[in-house]
Amino acid sequence: MKVAVTGANGRVGRYMIQELLDHGYEVRAVTMEPWEESPVEQAQADVKDAQQVFQALSGCDAVIHLAAIPSPHGYSESHIFQNNTMGVFHVLHAAGELGMKRAAVASSDCAFGITFSFQETKPVYLPMDELHPVAPDNCYGMSKVVGEQIAEGMAKRYGMTIASLRITHVLEPKDYSSGWLTKIIDNPEAEPWNVWSYLDVRDCVRAFRLSIEKPFSGHEVFCIASSEQRTAIPSKELASRFYPDAELRQPFTGRESFLNCTKAKTMLGFEAQYLISHTASDTKEEQE
Ligand SMILES: NC(=O)c1ccc[n+]([C@@H]2O[C@H](COP(=O)([O-])OP(=O)(O)OC[C@H]3O[C@@H](n4cnc5c(N)ncnc54)[C@H](O)[C@@H]3O)[C@@H](O)[C@H]2O)c1
Repeated sequence: MKVAVTGANGRVGRYMIQELLDHGYEVRAVTMEPWEESPVEQAQADVKDAQQVFQALSGCDAVIHLAAIPSPHGYSESHIFQNNTMGVFHVLHAAGELGMKRAAVASSDCAFGITFSFQETKPVYLPMDELHPVAPDNCYGMSKVVGEQIAEGMAKRYGMTIASLRITHVLEPKDYSSGWLTKIIDNPEAEPWNVWSYLDVRDCVRAFRLSIEKPFSGHEVFCIASSEQRTAIPSKELASRFYPDAELRQPFTGRESFLNCTKAKTMLGFEAQYLISHTASDTKEEQE
């Protein structure tokens, strides 16, 4: 089975290629610019261009669509919204026309509208799951919600199985020894993004692989995150400090994540394996 990966030379894409190779897939890396170091066959396409996308995906059996501008910053809002939504439209349209039966799309927990919001937006209930209201007021979050709607429509139109993965903030192994988002923090006020959730990139790409392998039909949205949050503060206390009006739908007893990944566990067999708390203690043991 040959899988096309868009955004293949990005942060997640490089790990995605390796994950697929490790599991016996042929892979085509689809990138915007030529990528000479690509470890697999490569095709070039700006996902805003329908024809380029169609050509780049031809001959593949499935697609994992990662290409996007991954935040509301750095470009005009109009460009980000157009880039991300047209990308999902062209990729899934081409996939359907080419007869592919499986696709996975990178959505984001920013679909909830809590991160990057202009008007403060808080969870209605915790942990948030796929049924929690989505109300982003920024171009990036909006592009992800629209992307999920496009996936819903394309799954219906072509009888495809499509997963939209609401992945949360991705960490690479190298981030654990340096970087701003990589340690358990005492001051949640300073870094409140993504409801303090995170996802190791190795878990992230495993979730994408499972989402094109496991049997289900139509379009499904999945929350994908580590099972713990990034602060040293127990989740119950954190919720009462920051989200006192949110309904608590589970008895938080430790540092459980505020993103509920039960659906991914049940339908995809996905559970995050790489936790900062484990990694931090492993690193300490190695140093000792
Ligand atoms: N990294 C995270 O923490 C995170 C969290 C939630 C969701 N996501 C989503 O996961 C996906 C991958 O994120 P990433 O961290 O690897 O981002 P990245 O910026 O490292 O990689 C994105 C890739 O998409 C490509 N791309 C962007 N616009 C394109 C276009 N018009 N045509 C072709 N290629 C284009 C870029 O060239 C780049 O290679 C994105 O859809 C992002 O929104 C990422």
